[in-house]
Amino acid sequence: MAIETERLILRPFAESDAADVYEYLHKPAVNCFASMKLDTLEDAKEEMKKRVGETEYYFAIVLKESGKVIGEIDAYPESDPHSNGSETPDTFSPCWMLNLNYTGKGYAYEAAHAFFDYLFSEKGARRIYAYTEDYNKPSQHLCEKLGMRREGLFLDFISFVNNPDGTPRYENTYQYAILKKEWNS
Ligand SMILES: CC(C)(COP(=O)(O)OP(=O)(O)OC[C@H]1O[C@@H](n2cnc3c(N)ncnc32)[C@H](O)[C@@H]1OP(=O)(O)O)[C@@H](O)C(=O)NCCC(=O)NCCS
Repeated sequence: MAIETERLILRPFAESDAADVYEYLHKPAVNCFASMKLDTLEDAKEEMKKRVGETEYYFAIVLKESGKVIGEIDAYPESDPHSNGSETPDTFSPCWMLNLNYTGKGYAYEAAHAFFDYLFSEKGARRIYAYTEDYNKPSQHLCEKLGMRREGLFLDFISFVNNPDGTPRYENTYQYAILKKEWNS
């Protein structure tokens, strides 16, 4: 499975992507991706072996002109956590991340827009929601450009890293969302 846009290809990861992924994941840009940190190129190679089977919901963002992997985007089908489990999993929450050397060029919007189209038109998405920390202005801006509504702010919602004294550092998190009917209009 691959999705093509004007400047990008979204495609499953390959083992040969290890060096490009290491470039942006040896020091994750935001706390919410701290657990994805890759300490060595060898770790990146092992990580790519895990990703190669992911063909539907986890994509490398690749520059068409050079073939370089400049980031990633993924989202998996979820059921309403309050349902009895019989509902179709039609809700998705994307993660997006670019190599910071490639931000500010519209690539994230181009990739996310195509990915949302794919989820709504081919993967049965009814609702797409995103969490983003209150200080992450680029991610909030991206949500808004995609037409997502800001639904709420959750205070001390989640902790990804510890404070210097070892206690959890809690983050304030915005939730954004868009429905299929909103996307189509
Ligand atoms: C969040 C993130 C993906 C946003 O990336 P980005 O490059 O800032 O986002 P966009 O694709 O919307 O591009 C931003 C700017 O590129 C500019 N741009 C430059 N050339 C462009 C072009 N040819 N076409 C379109 N836009 C272009 C646009 O003006 C746009 O700014 P504007 O919307 O104010 O006009 C990125 O900051 C990132 O990876 N951050 C670290 C990981 C992260 O925080 N993930 C989210 C966790 S919740």
